[in-house]
Amino acid sequence: MQLKELLESKFVREEEIPAEHALPGQINQKEYLSNGEMKQWSGSVHEVFSPVCIRTKDGLQRKLIGSYPVCTEKEAKESLDAAVEAYHDGRGEWPTMSVAERIGCVEQFTGKMIEQKDIMVKLIMWEIGKSQADSIKEFDRTVEYIYATIDSLKNLDRGSSGFEIVDGIAAQVRRSPLGVVLCMGPFNYPLNETFTTLIPALIMGNTILFKPPKFGTLLHYPLQQAFKDCFPKGVVNVIYGRGNTIIPGLMQSGKINVLTLIGSSKVANELKKLHPKVNRLRAVLGLDAKNASIITAKADLPLAVKETLSGALSFNGQRCTAIKIVWVHRSIADEFLKQFNEAIAGLKFGMPWEKGVALTPLPEPHKIDYLKECIADAEANGAKVMNENGGASVASLFFPAVVYPVNSKMKLYHEEQFGPIVPVVPFDNLEETIEYLIEATHGQQVSIFSNDADEVAALIDPLVNQVSRLNINSQCQRGPDVFPFTGRKDSAEGTLSVADAIRAFSIRSLVAFKMNESNKHLINDIVNKNSSNFLSTKFIF
Ligand code: G3H
Repeated sequence: MQLKELLESKFVREEEIPAEHALPGQINQKEYLSNGEMKQWSGSVHEVFSPVCIRTKDGLQRKLIGSYPVCTEKEAKESLDAAVEAYHDGRGEWPTMSVAERIGCVEQFTGKMIEQKDIMVKLIMWEIGKSQADSIKEFDRTVEYIYATIDSLKNLDRGSSGFEIVDGIAAQVRRSPLGVVLCMGPFNYPLNETFTTLIPALIMGNTILFKPPKFGTLLHYPLQQAFKDCFPKGVVNVIYGRGNTIIPGLMQSGKINVLTLIGSSKVANELKKLHPKVNRLRAVLGLDAKNASIITAKADLPLAVKETLSGALSFNGQRCTAIKIVWVHRSIADEFLKQFNEAIAGLKFGMPWEKGVALTPLPEPHKIDYLKECIADAEANGAKVMNENGGASVASLFFPAVVYPVNSKMKLYHEEQFGPIVPVVPFDNLEETIEYLIEATHGQQVSIFSNDADEVAALIDPLVNQVSRLNINSQCQRGPDVFPFTGRKDSAEGTLSVADAIRAFSIRSLVAFKMNESNKHLINDIVNKNSSNFLSTKFIF
């Protein structure tokens, strides 16, 4: 069978969808959480079509799985007012609540979230085409992240439950919230990456305006009741609508204190510029990246192939940390391509629920046209698709293409393709790879493959100043989530990790006093009577 026929054969008819993986029916969301209420919506809706196509008498068609509200600026503004009111200039119930009580609310929420695991995992799979195994991993990793955040905050709080005394001045230093946080996550990790900002922002006492990603939207619906039940009114508000309609007004209001976005640097730049009070806006951003794999002549080639394959093509290359360009020493380029192409040929493609599936349907409707445009542009500039069937596609399934030799005239050299194309660049001198990273607009991570300690050392020192993480003989990745995750240039602003995120969404405030008898008496009185949640020596176990 030709590959095209094979790709086509992977799509099933409606009645062939395995019952255990099917959604319970269409999910037509007609309400959203705002100001502590599930507000009913009777206006226009966005129909959600899965990347999973169904075989019909009219050919392959994306399956309609539900719809969600397309609200307007008016509803977004109402939600903003609710978040502002709940924060109440830092005097609201949530920002003044004790850390222990806030942790209690988040724990209660997490319990309710776990009850929704089955439907949420299915929605990740159906909305973005992520394999079932990876969808489960995304859910579990998010729950672990929340519990790790709670532990980290407890540690932080324990460290702040005493007083420091310096030069006769005593102070209690704690972290306090920043205000209203506008939180927007990406479609590729619609739950995990969104929650790695939303949860730390929330637990630190901020109030939230949360816009679900463009794909992976419905999966947030089952959580809204839990948000409503576990947090005071107006603390979490979920906003719907076209981003370019509802977001500019929110930023222009000047009432957003923190913009947190995992997405494109272009969007982040535009939004930041709309805020009238630049010094009041903090940005916590995870942005574009074009991580390189550098494979030297002294690399363990099978290992480099294995790690680069997984780094470049996990979830079809749709990870911000994906390896998006491969530099290979010219002397081993042919052998690398041979082994790499064989490895790609062995990847299983199919529907997200299939066991062991590696390549699955792509959610973005115009993605395949863009990928083909990148290949045509590379071919016009002297490269070829090196692997059999590379770039073949049927409906939303696209078979990965290895493109070689890539050069600086091509889109694939500069653009973040965010999909299953692996551009390969031959090099003669390692200096060329360093120059590439210096010139690049991105600076997230790099992978270096070599077994020569001197060679690796010679790359470490220049490259740690170009990117934020160097992976030696291993692929680029974000985890473990306790490690700092950030980037230079257009790749990030601020640092995320379990411990860093709670700092990113808060600021240190201190209560200080001269150590005289009258002040000692006064402070003891406050502490003993538990009359302040901030000034307190209570210890969270
Ligand atoms: O899309 C970016 C994700 O944060 C990547 O996480 O490297 O663990 O897949 P990961």
